[in-house]
Amino acid sequence: MAVMGCIGFMIVYGLKVNLSVAIIAMVNHTAVANMGEHHDDGHGEDDHHDLTLLTNSSGDSPNNTLNACGVEEKKENLNDGPFAWDENVQGLILASYFYGYIITQVPGGWVAEKFSAKHVFGIGALVNAICALLSPVAANTSYAALIVIRIIMGIAGGVTLPGMHVLVAAWAPPQERSKIAATVYAGMTLGTLVCMPFSGLLASKVGWSSIFYVQGGLSLLWYILWLFLVYDSPAQHPRITKSERKFIEESLGTVVKSEKPSVPWKSVWTSMPVWAIIVAHTCNNWGWYMLLVKLPTYMRYILKFDIEANAGLSAVPFLCMWIFTMILANVLDALRLRNMITTTFARKLSTFIASIPPAICLICVTFVGCNTDLAVALLTLGTMFVGGMYSGFLSNHIDIAPPFAGTLMGISNTFATLPGIIVPSFVGYMTHGNQTVEAWRTIFYITLGIFLFEAIFYCIFGSGEQQEWAKKKPSAQDGEQQKLNDVA
Ligand SMILES: *[C@@H]1O[C@H](CO)[C@@H](O)[C@H](O)[C@H]1NC(C)=O
Repeated sequence: MAVMGCIGFMIVYGLKVNLSVAIIAMVNHTAVANMGEHHDDGHGEDDHHDLTLLTNSSGDSPNNTLNACGVEEKKENLNDGPFAWDENVQGLILASYFYGYIITQVPGGWVAEKFSAKHVFGIGALVNAICALLSPVAANTSYAALIVIRIIMGIAGGVTLPGMHVLVAAWAPPQERSKIAATVYAGMTLGTLVCMPFSGLLASKVGWSSIFYVQGGLSLLWYILWLFLVYDSPAQHPRITKSERKFIEESLGTVVKSEKPSVPWKSVWTSMPVWAIIVAHTCNNWGWYMLLVKLPTYMRYILKFDIEANAGLSAVPFLCMWIFTMILANVLDALRLRNMITTTFARKLSTFIASIPPAICLICVTFVGCNTDLAVALLTLGTMFVGGMYSGFLSNHIDIAPPFAGTLMGISNTFATLPGIIVPSFVGYMTHGNQTVEAWRTIFYITLGIFLFEAIFYCIFGSGEQQEWAKKKPSAQDGEQQKLNDVA
């Protein structure tokens, strides 16, 4: 289940990010440049938007000048594709995924809890695969058709995270929760890690449409395996051994549920541990977005060093993050199993690791001057530490309310999607016509403040214990063994 879930996330996130690579090969840059120099920034999702801006901004200063770091500025040499989409259209196409993604978070979690998490996740990924296969046709029809396809992909992608949370809640024994959650959710990192270079390779060797056909086709294969290998709960799995089923069900203290409880909305909204997760998830995504997208932009503008031009080098931070995620999750689970630390402590420590060290790395980058090696090292370290989120607040929903894990993930991820929409506009506003270290330092100090707020709020209000309102019987304790007589 965990491995198939991990590959499922690689698919969903791979198909989400591959467009930012594909679109560079799809756009006719010559035609766009001829359409006029006018471009209003502050809108648009991805920073390849900025790439085009950088290419075109040579009008502001003479070509091939030496910048502050003594590096010769050079114009990007981009091959033309068939579509004359200007930056606004490109920004709209890239952002449209988010508009779909944000609306299905809560419904996705609710449907997964009520009916079948397996099918919610599976169909979410399947629809993404089918839409990927249809993308070239849609693009050839009109950009509006591609936008519609991307919104549908977002709608389908939005249900996967809450859906998966329901599956993890049904399958992961509490003492192995960090490990399993980290394995599954690290698929998002791996998807980015694998898909970006793979897409680049396909675009340059075969052509941009092959990105969609190859990745969409492989995803269909995954779906067939998913149908046969993954089930909603141990009780529904036809091939599970008796002892494994007994082990999982006893550790979870769950017996076969006859009816699904409905969400106690009032208790959810007035619960501080829930708000701690919402705050941590939202603030952390803000910082994560800064590291992932805006720090490379900073390095390109200020240090004139394009880490994304080097596929091998730009993969290193994700690789380090993935390794760190797995080690941290396993260590924390081992310590919890030996009762050396509580779940609450493990979650708070992980969330702290995912917020404070990355914030420090972000600030330090603005002080390293033109030392690009040190900047890359700091980017790598910062990204690595963000991996703490997987065994921190990101698996915390299941601790505090196992029956509502999907709904809670839907709620927190709805809030957490907002930074993806706000950050590009915010950075565009702060740096518009003002690409200076000082402007960026202000941005990063604000991010430090947000990270600090996250760490403090979560460390005060976060909890690793099952909440009263999420318990079936008031006396039932989390992890306490229950009689399996009712299983029959
Ligand atoms: C790109 O646009 C230019 C100018 O409009 C045109 O001459 C060229 O053929 C186009 N290239 C492609 C690949 O469509």
